[in-house]
Amino acid sequence: MKDKNRRQNKGTAATGVARAQRPRPASAPRKADKAASKTGAQQAPSRRPAPGEVRGEARNRAPASGARAPAAVESQRRLIVRTGEVPAERVPLILETAGTDDYRLIDSGAGEKLEQYGPYRIVRPEAQALWPRSLPTHVWDKADAIFTGDTDEDGMGRWRFPGAALGETWPMRLLDTDFYGRFTAFRHVGVFPEQLAHWSWMKARVEAADRPLKVLNLFGYTGVASLVAARAGAEVTHVDASKKAIGWARENQALGRGEKLPIRWICEDAMKFILREERRGSRYDIILADPPKFGRGPNGEVWQLFDNLPLMLDVCREILAPAEAALVLTAYSIRASFYSIHELVRETMRGRGGLVESGELVIREGGIDGRTPGRALSTSLFSRWTSA
Ligand SMILES: C[S@@+](CC[C@H](N)C(=O)[O-])C[C@H]1O[C@@H](n2cnc3c(N)ncnc32)[C@H](O)[C@@H]1O
Repeated sequence: MKDKNRRQNKGTAATGVARAQRPRPASAPRKADKAASKTGAQQAPSRRPAPGEVRGEARNRAPASGARAPAAVESQRRLIVRTGEVPAERVPLILETAGTDDYRLIDSGAGEKLEQYGPYRIVRPEAQALWPRSLPTHVWDKADAIFTGDTDEDGMGRWRFPGAALGETWPMRLLDTDFYGRFTAFRHVGVFPEQLAHWSWMKARVEAADRPLKVLNLFGYTGVASLVAARAGAEVTHVDASKKAIGWARENQALGRGEKLPIRWICEDAMKFILREERRGSRYDIILADPPKFGRGPNGEVWQLFDNLPLMLDVCREILAPAEAALVLTAYSIRASFYSIHELVRETMRGRGGLVESGELVIREGGIDGRTPGRALSTSLFSRWTSA
């Protein structure tokens, strides 16, 4: 292969496995998975959490500058520049989440948002809300919980409860799936409701299939997407680097009495996992990937979206089923246009036909009653490929 046809992953040692040597037989040993699926209990933390930090939770903080991923992860596989026609495209596509019984965006403005999560009204910083609030101060003042502190997306802060002190968790239900809302150290509440747009799309796809689809949920966090997919009839593989997040996902599974659902919970670095799946020749019908800008695997592997996303998508391409497959990528908190990931996905999927649709995930304000549509709050960029 000529050099121009093969870009190396940034910083990669030139020891990539040539394509012709892959994949290893599907029967290759699966020891690592077996170990990891025990929720990673035996895996030592790679660093001591800072005071008050929930280690590995949600959107991990940026690594110190100059941090490198262990060579073992990066050097195994070169990025392949694909040839063939790019898939058809549909842009922009704005996927909107409106309110449901258990979630709605009530109002936003002046750098904050007011949301309803189950029984609680919650105020959190929201850098995108440049406009003024719509609702009067006394409505905002009735919030049950307010996150204050660092206004960075991943900033540390603390929860303040103006009325009675609240417990750490509370039950919620979205798309017929039970899970816990929870007050976490980085302002997050255990679910990213803008993802509902992807999840209902995926649910419909799984339900329409005439066999159990195989769904891979990368960076799966508290597992709501995995539970939605499994309840709809899919066989799910859920991967997240945070032992704590996997624990929360299992608690969510237990809450909905879903212990028998076919879900493999795997505590592992997402890149390492898919590289192994590629070598084994594994295939998935739907891959969901919602990577943070920076993250760490359980053994300190560094994930940097701008460095690692092209290779991650390229490997995902290899482990997608040959027909009727779909890849859903979301990106947030990055300085990029949806066109950045749109064109990357189209390049990655060259020669596989189908359609790439990209745009933004937004949540529409619903007012106090949930029935008064207001402004659209942008939360993330996405790109979705579906085979022809
Ligand atoms: C924003 S959350 C994903 C949210 C999820 N899509 C949802 O809506 O429920 C990002 C997740 O990536 C995980 N993560 C960070 N770095 C990782 C890595 N290298 N490998 C696997 N997971 C990682 C974090 O633990 C966190 O749970």
